[in-house]
Amino acid sequence: MSAFTTETVRSVHHYTDRLFRFRTTRDPGFRFRSGEFVMIGLPGETGKPILRAYSIASPAWDEELEFFSIKVEDGPLTSKLQKIAPGDEIIVGKKPTGTLVLDALTPGKRLYLLSTGTGFAPFASLLREPETYEKFDEVIATHTCRIGSELDYSREIIDGLADDPLVGDEAPQKVRYVASCTREDYPLKGRITALLDSGELFSHLGVPPLSPQTDRVMICGSMAMINDTKDRVAGFDLTEGSNSKPAEFVVEKAFVG
Ligand code: A2P
Repeated sequence: MSAFTTETVRSVHHYTDRLFRFRTTRDPGFRFRSGEFVMIGLPGETGKPILRAYSIASPAWDEELEFFSIKVEDGPLTSKLQKIAPGDEIIVGKKPTGTLVLDALTPGKRLYLLSTGTGFAPFASLLREPETYEKFDEVIATHTCRIGSELDYSREIIDGLADDPLVGDEAPQKVRYVASCTREDYPLKGRITALLDSGELFSHLGVPPLSPQTDRVMICGSMAMINDTKDRVAGFDLTEGSNSKPAEFVVEKAFVG
């Protein structure tokens, strides 16, 4: 039996010359937890598929799958993937997995979702997941990119929450969106690490600094961003969790290239 299913691309939207999102059909037997990733790919020239791990950006209940991707000019997969159009086929692994899941966190009051670039993808899933709002009173979603136009996807997800069929009643009251840029003038400027170091993140939100008593954190971005942000979060005495040992924060790298 194949480890993959073949899915059909339903829609593609290009945000910038570096970022795009696409939606595909979903096999009725495909099950995942909001926040997980899966291997996806395209058939290779020699017949061997080119595969990469991608966070699923749609929530577990959605009948389609959504992905948010970078475009790398000479990237083995993304150089081709960026050219997909509705009707084209991609392959999707049958075994989703990952640590950016609600089960890996102990109960808390406030959930921070800290992301850069395509690292917002698993949070696009969790923000549309009803369980997120059953478990947390407040959800703070941060997205930092180089320039303002790279924030369009996260803004679209946040703006769409009010019309969402499952979370539309609760999410708009509970979610706070913090967008920042590092290479362009923007109301909030700076890396998430700098905003944590200066305390600007908390003063901007009007909340106390991170505390293991009340706050839970998920981190997703490049490997460097994850390592640097994790150091800061651990510096507030939060402990890293996993599926087998839930705790106060979890991390995952954005699987792109
Ligand atoms: P910067 O512009 O200062 O490099 P990318 O598109 O390269 O993945 O970057 C996405 C965002 O992540 C950028 O705003 C970038 O800031 C930021 N970033 C890159 N490295 C780190 C890091 N080690 N810690 C925190 N943020 C980072």
